[in-house]
Amino acid sequence: MLEVRGLRSGYGASTVIDGIDLDVAEGEFVVIIGPNGHGKTTLLKAISGLLPARSGTVRFKGEDITGQRTESIVGKGLVQIPQGDLLFPDMSVQENLLLGAFTRGRGGGRSERLAEVYEIFPRLAERSGQRARTLSGGERRMLALGRGLMTRADLLMIDEPSLGLAPVLVDEVYERIGRIAQSGVTVLLVEENFAHVREVADRVVLVENGSVVLAGSVAEVLEDPAVTATYLGVGGE
Ligand SMILES: Nc1ncnc2c1ncn2[C@@H]1O[C@H](COP(=O)(O)OP(=O)(O)O)[C@@H](O)[C@H]1O
Ligand SMILES: [Mg+2]
Repeated sequence: MLEVRGLRSGYGASTVIDGIDLDVAEGEFVVIIGPNGHGKTTLLKAISGLLPARSGTVRFKGEDITGQRTESIVGKGLVQIPQGDLLFPDMSVQENLLLGAFTRGRGGGRSERLAEVYEIFPRLAERSGQRARTLSGGERRMLALGRGLMTRADLLMIDEPSLGLAPVLVDEVYERIGRIAQSGVTVLLVEENFAHVREVADRVVLVENGSVVLAGSVAEVLEDPAVTATYLGVGGE
């Protein structure tokens, strides 16, 4: 579904990701792990067109989308949920959700999607009229995920959904993401804590210094002692 080849991107004079290859098959749940500041968010932004590629290609459902505008890429079903919440704080839960549907919303289907989101996140349904700023941290994260779903993504890229959440909420957010994946959405997710994703990931890609240094199934990646030491806090550091 997604084929990234030799992707380079960065900011100003600095190259942050340097020749990334990445494949995500339809229906897969792929997790990118790696230390803070090593280019994970930059990689997602270069895929979704928020940041221009300096070289390399991004293909989505067989089409070369390198250099296309983000709106057009979203319209094809590739949706990124940014790191942090990025909600409209003074709008209601429901208004935030409906704004998520604008990019692909051609009238019909919006209310069905809203019903689907409320089914996955009943807490959002209970709070549909409440202003986003009055939600708890966990609820805001659910709203950000729900808003991403309003676009009916085929591939959902989720950047650090656990960031800043208490452990009990992390479990809840991942449980919902698992349901989203089970509903047929392909997921590419960034996470710094491998322990959060070992149950849900089909495949893991380790990014360090802007390059893929290891990729494989969860079991394969766990065979690497450096990974278990660094990302599971086992036997070192
Ligand atoms: N908007 C920006 N402008 C300039 N440099 C940036 C910007 N965003 C990130 N960087 C730099 O790019 C590098 C990779 O950042 P990022 O992709 O956010 O890492 P990660 O998501 O893995 O934590 C870091 O050195 C960071 O300081
Ligand atoms: Mg990041």
